[in-house]
Amino acid sequence: HSVGIIGAPFSKGQSRDGVQLGPDLIRAAGLVEKLKGQGCTVKDYGNLTFEEVAKDETTGRAKRPRAVGQANKQLSEAVRKIKSEGHACVMLGGDHSLAIGSIHGHAACGTQLSVVWVDAHADINTPLTTPTGNIHGQPMSYLIHELRSKIPVMPNFSWLKPCIAAEDVVYIGLRDVDPEEQVKKPIHLSYDIDALDPSLAPATGTPVVGGLTYREGIYITEHICQTGLLSAVDMVEVNPKRGGTDNGVRSTVDAAVDLLLGCFGRVREGSHSADYKIP
Ligand code: ARG
Ligand code: MN
Ligand code: MN
Ligand code: MN
Repeated sequence: HSVGIIGAPFSKGQSRDGVQLGPDLIRAAGLVEKLKGQGCTVKDYGNLTFEEVAKDETTGRAKRPRAVGQANKQLSEAVRKIKSEGHACVMLGGDHSLAIGSIHGHAACGTQLSVVWVDAHADINTPLTTPTGNIHGQPMSYLIHELRSKIPVMPNFSWLKPCIAAEDVVYIGLRDVDPEEQVKKPIHLSYDIDALDPSLAPATGTPVVGGLTYREGIYITEHICQTGLLSAVDMVEVNPKRGGTDNGVRSTVDAAVDLLLGCFGRVREGSHSADYKIP
């Protein structure tokens, strides 16, 4: 696997401080070295930098639309470049509003995509229906063709056109684990760490009890790796300021790294050499 990593230290798709620390925290846990250790080629494109937006009033109910629109425009261009250079793209968030730019940039490469959304939440509220106003609860609504008429004109979103068909989206972790086996298009895996149970991954802004176990969470990544169709991954919503304890933060970050390793060929018994065939 050839992997290109882009960090997006962005938090304005929700209101809790800390999630912008995710990219550097996941790197500090050894992601690049561990991917190389299992035979991947890795290019780290570093972190995006985001400018402050002075006045950013709500549109409909959506909060901070200008900051979110601008950050996702930058991310879309970065992902598009990484894909054009031939890598599987790993986007380290940041909050889940970043799926807007990540998926858009991936889709800009031309092929129709399928999206596997692993999350406790569906993140498909529209800017008019959102109960919280947080855009991390809305990204799917901007991306799906069928919802186009439900999305108002938003400042700094004019670059964005829907690029995903509703029938090409698979949800996992809405407390029902059933990895889709019919997917034939390149896969964009968008992994919200809050899909995992809070006992395992407490360091996140919107934890929900009854989540995936470690085994279930990793199984999804291994299964998707085995399809040979994985083309881009988001790892989002790791927030070290929400974990309670150091152990809670460490276990969350370690889980994020292990999920990413699972995406790129790690098997839980330890990675075997390339010529090893499972009997
Ligand atoms: N459904 C709630 C909302 O729309 C929570 C969304 C949480 N999303 C997330 N990416 N963690 O605000
Ligand atoms: Mn979530
Ligand atoms: Mn989410
Ligand atoms: Mn593989």
